[in-house]
Amino acid sequence: MSFNKTKKVIEEGDVVILYLNPNNMHSLEVKAKISNKKGEIVDNVFQTTYGALKVISLVGQKYGTKIELTRGWAYVLQPTPELWTLTLPHRTQIIYSPDISLIIHLMELKPGSIVIETGTGSGSLSHSLIRTIRPHGHLYTFDFHEHRASVAGVEFERHGLSEFVTLRVKDICIEGFGEDLRHKVDAVFLDLPHPWLTIEHATFVLKESGGKLCFFSPCIEQVQRTCAKLICEGFVELNTYECLQREMNVQYRLLPVLDLECLKYKHVNDDVTQKSEKNKQEEKLLTVTHAHSLPGHTGFITIATLPPSYARK
Ligand SMILES: C[S@@+](CC[C@H](N)C(=O)[O-])C[C@H]1O[C@@H](n2cnc3c(N)ncnc32)[C@H](O)[C@@H]1O
Repeated sequence: MSFNKTKKVIEEGDVVILYLNPNNMHSLEVKAKISNKKGEIVDNVFQTTYGALKVISLVGQKYGTKIELTRGWAYVLQPTPELWTLTLPHRTQIIYSPDISLIIHLMELKPGSIVIETGTGSGSLSHSLIRTIRPHGHLYTFDFHEHRASVAGVEFERHGLSEFVTLRVKDICIEGFGEDLRHKVDAVFLDLPHPWLTIEHATFVLKESGGKLCFFSPCIEQVQRTCAKLICEGFVELNTYECLQREMNVQYRLLPVLDLECLKYKHVNDDVTQKSEKNKQEEKLLTVTHAHSLPGHTGFITIATLPPSYARK
């Protein structure tokens, strides 16, 4: 239940994040026994690079506590959608937090929004959508893959989020979203290989007062084809983005002081240059440089608006 409300103390059944360092985190369900690969019920002991942890021993500890492992230590944290995205078991490609934040911003989601998402995949985006729209909003999430959908359903339940989400197993391209959602939703989000096949269905579920459609596609050809369909269906204000994080390093560095007098006479009098080389001074300056690497391409995010007159009757 630890996703739904802030808690102080860890209870049995909570999902917690074991934080060893920024690149080494794990999500764990706090329970005494688990079944191993052979299907046998065994003690729930989690192995880390710093030694083993008997997971049930976390019960009663405060969230944020530093815990001893046999060869080191770790922090035990309350889960957030961002930490879940970094630690969830992958069933599919997932959307990561920088793209998720742009998607939520572009769809103008807020508490109370009614949103459709397809496909559910590994539920990475779903957790952030739920946090944004609860307590009065609702997420309808669709996936045609039965196993993926059922695992996501178990996770929503275990995380205490079931009341905010309805999960349906459906091929959206063929069946659409369903009559019960006709003109009920504020925004539709698509992350599937053929988004252009779902656009017409989206025009039936967006509110008659209009709404937003957003889709995530790794290839620009998918974007082109979907945008062409969006324009045919009456969507306006189409914009496509690539979310690239350009990191800047702000740091003090020792730099040589520029001697303008010396530069002026350099070509006339070599003596001046030599004298100046001897007296070269350095100064500690606050500098700004670009980081050497830029995280690569994830996908293109397109947003479009359906104006009121274009919602299907
Ligand atoms: C890349 S995954 C989505 C990942 C998800 N956004 C996340 O962040 O975890 C795409 C999902 O779409 C589902 N899918 C593909 N075509 C579909 C369709 N026509 N109807 C419903 N689901 C579909 C796939 O089964 C897959 O689970």
